Amino acid sequence: MTKLLLKKIIKKNNQIKKILYKLNFKFQNYIQDGIVVLPIKFNIDSPVSIFCKGEIKIHENVCFGHNLSPKIGNGLIQLQTRKIDAKIEIGEKSKLSNNISIISNNSIKIGKNVLLGDNVSIFDSDFHSKNYLDRSKPKNKIESKEIVIEDNVLIGSKVIILKGTVIEENSIIGAGSVVCGYIPKDVIAVGVPAKVIKSISKNE
Ligand SMILES: CC(C)(COP(=O)(O)OP(=O)(O)OC[C@H]1O[C@@H](n2cnc3c(N)ncnc32)[C@H](O)[C@@H]1OP(=O)(O)O)[C@@H](O)C(=O)NCCC(=O)NCCS
Repeated sequence: MTKLLLKKIIKKNNQIKKILYKLNFKFQNYIQDGIVVLPIKFNIDSPVSIFCKGEIKIHENVCFGHNLSPKIGNGLIQLQTRKIDAKIEIGEKSKLSNNISIISNNSIKIGKNVLLGDNVSIFDSDFHSKNYLDRSKPKNKIESKEIVIEDNVLIGSKVIILKGTVIEENSIIGAGSVVCGYIPKDVIAVGVPAKVIKSISKNE
């Protein structure tokens, strides 16, 4: 993509941002150096804080926040791409409950019709070097790895999803689990770390 085209997209998104403010959508701390792609139709019940150095792409009919779900404070949802090449994508009709943090140094891809319970955290990076001597250096070695959450997945309340996780379609992650690795499709996984406890039959 040429630099000119990139500039055009960014300019267009700035216009969208202004329109959203005008319509009194609850965007907070909207800091955009990168590319934010918003759909025409989406729903916001809780404020959304955006910090975008890379790319954030939201597809049609995504819902941010839920009035009836547990909420701490104002239920703030945070979407952050902290690097130029970091990406967050949220697929069509996915629903995010309240107090959700999706923070990326690499890539977090959420499919269609995915449900995220309240207080879910998704981090595709350790964000700090393992070696304490490196932690205070500006260019320290930080491990990051892509996260993929496929279509129709249900993530229970207070789940933490860590770097390198793949959750295949239709699966459920039980409340309070910590997921770090591969979860196949059509299963229920629970615990710390999350392990498969059963398959979901088509009749359930
Ligand atoms: C994962 C879940 C769907 C499983 O439901 P289920 O199939 O009815 O499972 P059961 O209640 O029969 O439990 C099966 C086993 O898993 C254990 N288990 C269930 N959920 C668990 C969880 N979140 N963490 C750890 N263990 C769990 C049960 O203790 C039971 O263990 P046992 O066989 O040793 O007795 C459900 O427990 C859950 O966590 N739902 C998420 C609710 C939520 O957060 N919704 C989002 C709000 S929008």
